[in-house]
Amino acid sequence: MNKSSGRAVPLLILLLIGVIAMFTPISTAHEPITTKVMFNREVIRILQRNCLECHSPGRIKADIPLTSYREARPWAKAIKEEVLERRMMPFQAVRGYGRFSHSYAISQRDQELLISWIEGGAPKGEESDYPREEIRALARGGVWPAGEPDQVLEAPAVNVTADAGMVTRCEVLPVGNQEERWIEGLDLLPGNGAIVDGANYFIAPSGTRSPCSLPESRLNPLGSWSPATVAARYPEGYARRLPANARIVLKLRYRGNGEAASDRSRLGLHFASTKTSRSVETVSITAPPATIPAAAASHRIVATKTITEDREALAIRPLPYPYATSVEVSLSRPDGSGEVLVLTRGYRFPWQPAYYFKSPVEMPRGSVITITAYIDNSESNPTLGEGPIRQMRFTAPLCELTMAVAVTR
Ligand code: HEC
Repeated sequence: MNKSSGRAVPLLILLLIGVIAMFTPISTAHEPITTKVMFNREVIRILQRNCLECHSPGRIKADIPLTSYREARPWAKAIKEEVLERRMMPFQAVRGYGRFSHSYAISQRDQELLISWIEGGAPKGEESDYPREEIRALARGGVWPAGEPDQVLEAPAVNVTADAGMVTRCEVLPVGNQEERWIEGLDLLPGNGAIVDGANYFIAPSGTRSPCSLPESRLNPLGSWSPATVAARYPEGYARRLPANARIVLKLRYRGNGEAASDRSRLGLHFASTKTSRSVETVSITAPPATIPAAAASHRIVATKTITEDREALAIRPLPYPYATSVEVSLSRPDGSGEVLVLTRGYRFPWQPAYYFKSPVEMPRGSVITITAYIDNSESNPTLGEGPIRQMRFTAPLCELTMAVAVTR
């Protein structure tokens, strides 16, 4: 009796182990490690360079933080997909068109290392390699990426309710300058990066009572901000004129994130430290009115602008029109030379940064800028929403061009 029960116990245990094994999902921890790429050593650096400005606490993708092994490991497969399909980072300039100082695309090498880490079993690596202080500092935020500005303009506080979708605010910020000033750079620092989705800033025309009620075409564009974009900084000797008693119109876009939150964003101005030899301005180029038939999946729109004085292009920003599937901006000079300035594809988000050229692009008098956009007005366009597809009247700015002209004094 005793003997037989003595044998039954190990059998029961064996059976139990078998049952547990059957119902336990295949554990990733036991995947063989076939890579030398470690999360705490290489991968966290790649995420820091490309992803964490959105995917960390207090930022716009705080719901998918990727700041530690524990947070990022469950997303490994999704990361591979997003990166291979080039949906992340979510900016759309196609590599190989335009030469920029910052391309907003993950580099080939970073992409390869990420894939190697994921396919090789996604190992964690040594605790001591993890850059704890830097990641903490990033989460704290509040640091001007291009350095402390000379003057900071603070917007009034804005409260956003938990269930708010997109909310926009327009504020007029007086600079208080008695004389004209020249600025060589500007940047926005969100007070609450978890809800600030983007911003545009303009100089108000002098004498208007309420610049916020003017159409944007009457305002003088100064710049824009979206998550993870770099601050506007012009080359030495290049600056933008700020008239005396300037007023800046700041348009902020918020996105409710499930909790009531408030924001106080700040705009920072860097005044020119050297004598200005080139004056910078931004113009927007608008498409002529067009009718786009219902269900047209690939309707072409072309806008052109002739340069009437010798200029240099400093930056280009294709505008995030939601129905556009691609926008190409090209330059042709009177001597027959030319180049594509930028090509963007896929507009998943209204985050379209200005792309700064590596060095100013010559645009002699008589050069022609051509913008070709393809618009999808068909059922296959997810941004059109529910309901029947209708014919569409289209007239909208397609891109902003920041250019410089020699100062004559
Ligand atoms: C400018 C902000 C921003 C940056 C930078 C960014 N992301 Fe994202 N990410 C988003 C947003 C917004 C979404 C939500 C996607 C959607 O709504 O379609 C997202 C979604 C994701 C998802 C989830 C996709 C899913 O399956 O739901 C992953 C994974 C991801 N990002 C990885 C990355 C990686 C890796 C990087 C860096 C190479 C990166 N992201 C850089 C904003 C960003």
